[in-house]
Amino acid sequence: MIQRRQYRGSTMTTLLALATILLVGSFRGSAQDGPPKTVQFTGRSPTSEECGTCHVTLYREYAMGFGSDLKYRDTTGKAGQERILDVPANVSTTGTGHSLAALDPYPVHALEEGTGNGACRTCHFPRTFAIPEIDQVSVGKPDPRPPEEEFGGVRCSSCHLTPDGAIRTPHQVQAPHETIQDERIHTSVMCAYCHSLGSYTPGSQTQTFLEWREDFFRAGLGKLHCQDCHMPRTLRKTAETFDVPIRPVARHLWTGGHSSQRVMNAATAVIVQPVAGESRFEFHVANVGAGHSIPSGSNRRALYLIAEIQDQQERIVASREWLFAPWYGNRPDDRAFVEADRLRPDSIAATQADLQGPHEAILRGGENRALPWSPSLKPGSYTVKARLIYDLNRYNDWTLSQDQTETVTASLGCQVTGQ
Ligand code: HEC
Ligand code: HEC
Ligand code: HEC
Ligand code: HEC
Ligand code: HEC
Repeated sequence: MIQRRQYRGSTMTTLLALATILLVGSFRGSAQDGPPKTVQFTGRSPTSEECGTCHVTLYREYAMGFGSDLKYRDTTGKAGQERILDVPANVSTTGTGHSLAALDPYPVHALEEGTGNGACRTCHFPRTFAIPEIDQVSVGKPDPRPPEEEFGGVRCSSCHLTPDGAIRTPHQVQAPHETIQDERIHTSVMCAYCHSLGSYTPGSQTQTFLEWREDFFRAGLGKLHCQDCHMPRTLRKTAETFDVPIRPVARHLWTGGHSSQRVMNAATAVIVQPVAGESRFEFHVANVGAGHSIPSGSNRRALYLIAEIQDQQERIVASREWLFAPWYGNRPDDRAFVEADRLRPDSIAATQADLQGPHEAILRGGENRALPWSPSLKPGSYTVKARLIYDLNRYNDWTLSQDQTETVTASLGCQVTGQ
């Protein structure tokens, strides 16, 4: 259901005008000399700071991650490149991914290195967009803002401003700006444009919305939309200095890969020795917390399963590792394409993805993956250990641990009899 509200403009009825005058009057009483009485956004791309003059706490969450464990992690571009890619000194390192979208040096660096072109700018510096349909097979992308408007990344207005200048809202409100109530703002289509590209190719990168739709929502695993997990709600005023009711408000935090709390709730690991005495183990890794694949989104992300077997003196006698990651191209085995990649315009990104070779497909919504391993062990007592490690950038040196989070540890004491 869509309900439009308009306070200004020539088509306004007398009644509405009267309501406006009364309303602006009441704002004057409560807002004192702070925020402006009425604002209009048609034909421009307002900054988040402008919205933040009235929506103070929401702005704080968005720009400073207020109320979350978000933390921008130091990272480097790729293996052998030691330059730490850090956010500028005057920017909060606890800001949300959306507020950092034009400042996060990693995508900026990727853009500069020419791994992409104008096509990259669309989701990182988006213009206002209309919400896409939930059923559409192939998801397009928003238009980019002009280059002089690139600062500010994904702004309040990127998500809230409709192409004709109204603010899309969850509630029917009396606001000093034009609003249009649209219930779809509570649903995953709100995120679809930037968190998916093209049609669903299981295993590929930039498919989060489609993974949610096909593997989680339509598969019947749950009814939760992106907001239910990524924008938990609280009761408060949305515009602090105004005389407005307390409402259920979604925290604007969007914790993802940069939040330890978030990634620690994503997957579980269990070790099984199916037949007592045999040197044969299974590692069960399950997606229990994400309404889409783990990892999801960017092909730089990885989840590592590291298995180690210790003898009674705690010496590591065997170890093995599996890598779960979205692939860069639409294919399971990247390695065969390495040579072809070198000729591509995006050769840097393509080649680094493919050089890592075949790896485990990402864990789909609700999936439980059993990974078998039969190391050759002498008879004796052992401890089998498993760790899951979430890595924000699988292409840089493994020893750079700032961008990694150990999310799960499991262990199993066992006997190997050699039978
Ligand atoms: C001059 C102060 C002011 C400015 C500037 C302002 N707003 Fe608002 N806005 C309000 C007030 C007051 C309300 C009504 C709040 C209520 O009733 O809960 C409101 C309501 C909203 C709502 C609907 C709230 C709901 O519960 O449905 C949204 C969304 C919103 N504003 C977004 C924005 C965005 C995005 C910007 C910047 C482009 C912005 N606002 C700029 C004062 C402002
Ligand atoms: C369809 C929208 C879309 C397009 C087009 C797009 N991106 Fe992104 N990008 C995203 C989203 C969403 C994320 C957030 C992380 C995720 O989903 O894993 C992201 C994250 C990134 C990151 C990782 C930042 C981090 O936190 O590690 C880099 C680097 C990046 N993008 C670069 C690019 C480049 C270069 C291009 C052009 C080839 C591009 N992007 C095109 C949506 C897009
Ligand atoms: C990535 C998209 C996105 C961005 C960026 C964004 N919002 Fe929202 N906003 C939403 C969604 C989605 C909802 C509805 C959440 C829900 O389902 O309850 C919402 C809700 C709101 C509401 C209504 C109260 C509520 O939470 O239900 C206000 C007011 C608001 N946003 C203001 C802002 C302001 C101010 C900014 C910038 C500081 C901003 N938003 C940035 C997506 C966004
Ligand atoms: C207009 C485009 C756009 C829309 C709409 C959008 N996002 Fe994003 N989102 C991005 C981009 C771009 C990034 C990555 C920024 C970066 O890392 O540089 C991002 C980052 C994120 C992250 C953080 C990923 C990380 O690396 O920590 C989460 C979580 C997220 N978005 C969730 C959502 C949800 C939920 C919605 C819908 C309510 C949504 N986004 C709507 C563009 C968008
Ligand atoms: C049931 C809860 C749940 C739902 C529903 C959900 N997510 Fe997530 N999301 C998670 C968890 C847990 C993680 C961390 C593990 C991972 O990366 O998959 C995550 C991670 C992410 C990331 C971080 C990826 C990165 O590279 O850092 C983005 C972006 C994201 N989700 C977007 C979305 C969008 C968009 C939707 C809706 C289409 C959505 N999520 C629905 C729980 C959820």
